[in-house]
Amino acid sequence: MTTIGIIGAGHIGSQVARLAVASGYKVAISNSRGPETLTGLVAELGPNARAATALEAAKSGDIVVVSVPLKNYRAIPVEPLANKIVIDTNNYCPQRDGHIPELDNESTTTSELLQAHLPTVKVVKAFNHIYAAELTTHGQPAGTKNRRALVIAGNDDGAKAVVTHLLDQFGFDTVDAGLLKEGWRIQRDTPGYGPRRTAEELRGDLAAAKR
Ligand SMILES: NC(=O)c1ccc[n+]([C@@H]2O[C@H](COP(=O)([O-])OP(=O)(O)OC[C@H]3O[C@@H](n4cnc5c(N)ncnc54)[C@H](OP(=O)(O)O)[C@@H]3O)[C@@H](O)[C@H]2O)c1
Repeated sequence: MTTIGIIGAGHIGSQVARLAVASGYKVAISNSRGPETLTGLVAELGPNARAATALEAAKSGDIVVVSVPLKNYRAIPVEPLANKIVIDTNNYCPQRDGHIPELDNESTTTSELLQAHLPTVKVVKAFNHIYAAELTTHGQPAGTKNRRALVIAGNDDGAKAVVTHLLDQFGFDTVDAGLLKEGWRIQRDTPGYGPRRTAEELRGDLAAAKR
């Protein structure tokens, strides 16, 4: 059975864990304070979930989700993630993260920062523009008319195919924004960030985004 490692057990990480367990995956979920603080969540998630350290979640995950405040991205373990698929949910919030000059001057993007920290990893940006609560309420079966779509971006087509399949299992269509460097098109304050959108609408939002 495929294990999804999750680093960050907050609003998004815990919701991705719920979707993963419901879709038949094993989950190893971690936070900054330690596995003993996650007993309530793993009890809710059931026997296919376990609380872990970030290092263990990175090691045991076939696919690993990084969902921490962006300012902490350098704490993500590098070596155990080598060559894996890492899903990056992170957004830049200067009020929370402090100012990051290369994001302020738009010379890079949030997911490219994580990619630079994890050079051998196949980073796929996903889940960054949907409110956490909607992850478990907006999903619908494949083929549903006007199904909600979510954006992905990444530099590895095989990794994007894996994440597209995962999103489909979770109840969402996918729109591929292209390479990681195109991720700014769905960052905070762009048209596609937040609202419920179909794939067609989201493609229009990505095209209309202004840097
Ligand atoms: N909330 C949303 O609706 C939403 C939507 C899309 C994207 N995002 C983005 O997704 C990311 C996560 O957001 P969130 O709302 O889920 O945040 P959150 O509720 O504040 O949760 C953050 C989680 O990260 C953990 N963490 C922090 N530093 C860590 C580290 N070094 N190692 C392991 N775990 C660490 C925290 O652990 P402790 O609890 O132990 O401190 C906590 O479990 C952010 O970048 C956010 O901007 C959020």
